Amino acid sequence: MNAGEPLLSLHGASKSYTLGGNTIRALHSVDLALARGEIAAVTGPSGSGKSTLLNLCGLLDKPDGGELLFDGEPLPAEHEARRTRLRRQAIGFVFQGFNLVPVMTAHDNIDYPLYLLGVSAAERRQRVLQALERVGLAGLGGHKPDQLSGGQRQRVAIARAIVKRPRLVIADEPTANLDAQTASQIVGLMRALAHHDGTTFLVATHDDRMLPHCDRALLLDDGVLKGTFHAH
Ligand SMILES: Nc1ncnc2c1ncn2[C@@H]1O[C@H](COP(=O)(O)OP(=O)(O)O)[C@@H](O)[C@H]1O
Ligand SMILES: [Mg+2]
Repeated sequence: MNAGEPLLSLHGASKSYTLGGNTIRALHSVDLALARGEIAAVTGPSGSGKSTLLNLCGLLDKPDGGELLFDGEPLPAEHEARRTRLRRQAIGFVFQGFNLVPVMTAHDNIDYPLYLLGVSAAERRQRVLQALERVGLAGLGGHKPDQLSGGQRQRVAIARAIVKRPRLVIADEPTANLDAQTASQIVGLMRALAHHDGTTFLVATHDDRMLPHCDRALLLDDGVLKGTFHAH
């Protein structure tokens, strides 16, 4: 691994969807390099391809043209087992609607990905408590999602994403359901985690108020990456 090398890069990545005989070009020949430890925003109006781009980078979906490299290694679509293993071990996800399991406590929601990875009970417990503390929820692990505010729920979701110590966190409109002040705190938290741990965050948002918290913003327009600008 070379520290100067991007964590993830896309070269000429395209993606189309076919719907009722029509082909929709969601992404058109996108080139992108994500640095280690950066928090990059993906902006653009609704329908511009933000979620499609995040799904490709999160290995949830495959480009139908172009190439994706993770840690400098090509990750072609046909290497299904490698893609799945990397997605489970190295990538965390945060969604607009939080996607917590309602019958499970915050602690158990955060614990679940570690359980799936086969981590021992003792280590899981220690890592979950540490993740709760890092997102500012120490002592609230026993609460179920409906006993928490929207901002607290999103903190649980972030704790769940980082507890496996991922290389990359993909967050699709993570603040869309939050008020401006809470949203700003959530992006500030992600930035602190990115800079402290060297984790890369790729965050889709169409909220301009989030941009000052990010290192860089990428602008998508109708599936085309129109440019990138630095916030600082
Ligand atoms: N599963 C799908 N099937 C068909 N079309 C889709 C699908 N997902 C997205 N699209 C289309 O692709 C384009 C980009 O969508 P999306 O990536 O969701 O944009 P954004 O997240 O910026 O709103 C839109 O025209 C959308 O309608
Ligand atoms: Mg979207």
